[in-house]
Amino acid sequence: MTAIILDEPGGPEVLHTDKVPTPSPKPGEVLIRVEASGVNRPDIMQRKGYYPPPPGASPLLGLEIAGTVVAHGSPLSGTEFPAIGSKICALTNGGGYADYCAVPASQCLPWPDHYDAVKAAAIPETFFTVWSNLFTTADLKKGETVLIHGGAGGIGTAAIQIAKAMGAIPLTTVSDPEKGELCEKLGAIAINYKTDDFVEKVMEHTGGKGVDVILDIIGGPYFSRNLKALAMDGRLVIIAFQGGAKVEEFSLTPLMTKRLHVTATALRPRSKEYKATVAEALKTHIWPLLDSGALEPIVHTTFPLAEAAEAHRLMESSNHSGKIILTH
Ligand SMILES: NC(=O)c1ccc[n+]([C@@H]2O[C@H](COP(=O)([O-])OP(=O)(O)OC[C@H]3O[C@@H](n4cnc5c(N)ncnc54)[C@H](OP(=O)(O)O)[C@@H]3O)[C@@H](O)[C@H]2O)c1
Repeated sequence: MTAIILDEPGGPEVLHTDKVPTPSPKPGEVLIRVEASGVNRPDIMQRKGYYPPPPGASPLLGLEIAGTVVAHGSPLSGTEFPAIGSKICALTNGGGYADYCAVPASQCLPWPDHYDAVKAAAIPETFFTVWSNLFTTADLKKGETVLIHGGAGGIGTAAIQIAKAMGAIPLTTVSDPEKGELCEKLGAIAINYKTDDFVEKVMEHTGGKGVDVILDIIGGPYFSRNLKALAMDGRLVIIAFQGGAKVEEFSLTPLMTKRLHVTATALRPRSKEYKATVAEALKTHIWPLLDSGALEPIVHTTFPLAEAAEAHRLMESSNHSGKIILTH
């Protein structure tokens, strides 16, 4: 099959097409003929050599796909296979930038009503990550406030919509007014982090209380300010360190005085069983909203699979809002 290969870590130019063996589905897995795959920041990290695939996972890039089921692996008790020929989208463990990808059946979900491959491929990585972090890790509740950093990105646009749909009040940071407008349309209060201090703005919008939850992708440079922006019993969930992993100096005092919880998580190395519980939760709470059109992934643009390097360049420029998708 054709796949995007990288011979060594580096810039987008290391990505090229090549022929590789088609994967065989293991017990409990299905083989998907991929019609579209999503580009995610973790792919950029993997390409640069900073995010190696977990043991046993495909070394190829690509954490989410949409396509057609073409084969089943051997049965595994408790696992239901989607029918051969059905259209599914899936959270992969790697290997999405290819003609075929083998994924655990428990990480597959049907295309929402009236979706095509591009829109379906725009869902899994961000929706699984957001659900897992906001509702399992941070226990975000109806009526609570949540600050989502990077609101115009793939994760951000999904997080705003999901938080809002579940009855929470999203605030978000963006770099320019156009991205702010998009986030406000999706239901968030947008804060321009280039022109405003996000802590001051959070306090203004929450009557001085702070937010209950923060979903952070920046890490070190935002750490102390995130603690300041949290309310009593606030929860900070860090899912990336785009600004760096080191915190030079910070005070533990707000952790005690505000009883804060701080954690950091990555979805990819989590167990198949954990990912299956997230898939079930999405099916129950989010799929009906996707089917009805109340929620919709935001697709910025598409590139043919062979132009994966261009797609990476666009993501690294941050001149996109929402998802970048590869068509196969
Ligand atoms: N832990 C996990 O399991 C997991 C899973 C998936 C993704 N992630 C992480 O989540 C992050 C987002 O991924 P993605 O695929 O959605 O990428 P993306 O579409 O490129 O979004 C990243 C966003 O960050 C914003 N940003 C950059 N600097 C910022 C700053 N100082 N303050 C606020 N926002 C800033 C960018 O927009 P502006 O123009 O507004 O700056 C951009 O919209 C990545 O870091 C990725 O590694 C983690």
